[in-house]
Amino acid sequence: MSDLNFFVTCPKGLEYLLEDELRTFGMDPVRNAPAGVWANGTLESGYRACLWSRLANRVILHLADVDATSGDQMLGGVTDLEWQQHIPMNGSFRVNFVGQNEAIRNTQYGAQRVKDGIVDRLRSASGQRPSVDAKNPDVTVSARLNRGKLSVGIDLSGDSLHKRGYRTEKGAAPLKENLAAALLTRCGWPELAKAGGDFIDPMCGSGTLVIEAAMMALDLAPGRKRERFGFERWLGHQPDLWLSLRQEAEKRAYTGKQGIEGRVPAFLGFDQDRGVIQTAGNNLQRAGLEGIVTIKQQGVDQFSREEAWAETGLVLVNPPYGERLSERKELGGLYRSLGEAVKEALPGWRFGVFTGAPEYGKSIGLRSYKQYRLYNGKLPAQLLLFNVDDASAMTPRERCTWRGDASHRQ
Ligand SMILES: C[S@@+](CC[C@H](N)C(=O)[O-])C[C@H]1O[C@@H](n2cnc3c(N)ncnc32)[C@H](O)[C@@H]1O
Repeated sequence: MSDLNFFVTCPKGLEYLLEDELRTFGMDPVRNAPAGVWANGTLESGYRACLWSRLANRVILHLADVDATSGDQMLGGVTDLEWQQHIPMNGSFRVNFVGQNEAIRNTQYGAQRVKDGIVDRLRSASGQRPSVDAKNPDVTVSARLNRGKLSVGIDLSGDSLHKRGYRTEKGAAPLKENLAAALLTRCGWPELAKAGGDFIDPMCGSGTLVIEAAMMALDLAPGRKRERFGFERWLGHQPDLWLSLRQEAEKRAYTGKQGIEGRVPAFLGFDQDRGVIQTAGNNLQRAGLEGIVTIKQQGVDQFSREEAWAETGLVLVNPPYGERLSERKELGGLYRSLGEAVKEALPGWRFGVFTGAPEYGKSIGLRSYKQYRLYNGKLPAQLLLFNVDDASAMTPRERCTWRGDASHRQ
C-alpha cells in the first residue's frame, strides 16, 4: 500500500534523475521541488531508497504540514502531533530546521520552537522528558519552513546518504558520491557496462568516480557499508523488513561481483599525485573493491593503451578547474594533453569531462555532442560528452578560434 508520503532530497539539478530512480524502488513521484522529489510509497520503498539510492541526500517520511505564520502557531501545531509514536520514551532526538519567514527569522529559533513542541507533547503523554542529542540522536526530526507552512517529518537516512561509509579520507577537491553517480548515469555508464565496456578515470583523485562506477556496474547497494541509518531507533522501524532488504542486497552483491555475463569490467583509476593514490586505495578497500578496482600512480602524459582493455567503454574525468588565476593558465595545456592521450589510446570509447572551467573543454580537441549544466557544490560546472572518433575531431580552424577565446579569457 502506497500510504506514506516522502520527501527525498538531492543535490540541485538531479531532481529528474532522482524521480526515475525512485520509481525503481516502487515509489510514485508526485512533484519535484528544488533539490528534492515528493513521492508516495510504502515503508519498504523508503527503506529501499535509503539502501539503494545513488542520488539522494535524505529520505524524509512526511508527517504533517503545520501552520507557521508565527512562532507560537508553529509551536502549537508541532505539539499537536503524536510524537510518542515516533520517539522512544526517555529517548533522544535532534531537529534539522531549514528555511525562514517574516516571523521565524533564523533556523536556531525555529529549531528551538519545534523542539519545545516535541518535548511538551512527550512530557504530557509519558511524564518523561526526552533529551536533545545533536550528534547521535535516536530520531532526527526534519522541519522545513516554506512561507507560512512547516513541513514536519522523520529523517529516515540520518547522516546524508552521499556518505556511503567508504570515504573517510578525501583528496583535494573530491566529488560528492551522489554527484559522481549522477555523472555516470548521464554518461550512460550502466548501459555501456552491460554492453561489455570498461571504465577509466585518468585523474581519479580519491577514486570517487571509479568506485561509484564499479558499485553501479556490479549492482552493489551504495548503503551496504554504512554503519547507521536514521530509522534504526525510530519507533515505526520494522527490523524484519529491513533485514530482508539487507539480505537481498548481499545476494545481489554476490551475483554482481561475478560480473556481467561472467565478465567483470576493468575499473581503472590513475592520478599523478602519490598522496591521493594512497587515499583512493584506502577508500576502495573500505568499499570492498580490492582486486576489482585498480588504482595506479601515473600522469596523463604516461597514459597508454593496454591490451586487456575492452574495445569500448567510458573514460570519465573531473580535471582540475584551476580556481586560482595562476593555475588557470596551466589548464589549456593540461586539457590538451588529456584529449590527446584519450584520442590516442581509446578510440571508439565515450568520454566525459566534468569541469568548472568548460571553456577549456575545447582544448580537448573534440567536438562535444552533449553538455549538461550542473553544480559541484555551489560552483556551476558542466559535464561535456564526447565520442572518441575521427568524426568528432575539431578542425584546425576550430582549434584556432579556441586559442583566441582562451587567451582572451586568461
Ligand atoms: C578535481 S581533482 C579530482 C577529484 C576526484 N574526482 C575525487 O573525487 O577525488 C583533479 C585531480 O587531477 C589530478 N591531476 C592533475 N594533473 C594531472 C596530470 N597531469 N596527470 C594525472 N593526474 C593529474 C590531481 O592530482 C587531482 O587529484
